Amino acid sequence: MKELKAADGVVYEEAALLMKKAQEARKNAYTPYSHFAVGAALLGSDGVIYTGCNVENAAYSPGNCAERTAVFKAVSEGCKRFEAVAVVGAKEEEVPQAGAAVCSPCGVCRQVLREFCDEKTFRVYVTDGVSLFCYTLEELLPLSFGPENL
Ligand code: THU
Repeated sequence: MKELKAADGVVYEEAALLMKKAQEARKNAYTPYSHFAVGAALLGSDGVIYTGCNVENAAYSPGNCAERTAVFKAVSEGCKRFEAVAVVGAKEEEVPQAGAAVCSPCGVCRQVLREFCDEKTFRVYVTDGVSLFCYTLEELLPLSFGPENL
């Protein structure tokens, strides 16, 4: 497992640090309509962790998922390649409990990630509140369409 050094100097296993950052980011979720709060932490190839939360809107469709918030933050700050992401989501008053449904990236977010990631090595960490699961982007978006197809 890869290791990462956090701002406090502590060395964390990659998945554990990204999950912790995703949980922190989830606290900022703006979810007055779905009441489902999601946080994401995206590891850039520059070594920086970009976080995001879902941001909803009274007109509904302008709302943005946590994963895309993180990607768009990163790209707008100059990072266009990513190594891994952790996602955590649950009803806003809950933290994911034992046996909770895994919150994994929606189809739109998978496609947005595909633009900037190596599908074979990019790691997606999700949790059911007890265990941590890791998938490659290719597993979540098989036979995908990407920049090389154009
Ligand atoms: N949502 C995310 O932010 N990420 C996901 O992976 C799944 C869904 C958000 C969108 C919406 O604000 C709320 O969760 C309910 O769908």
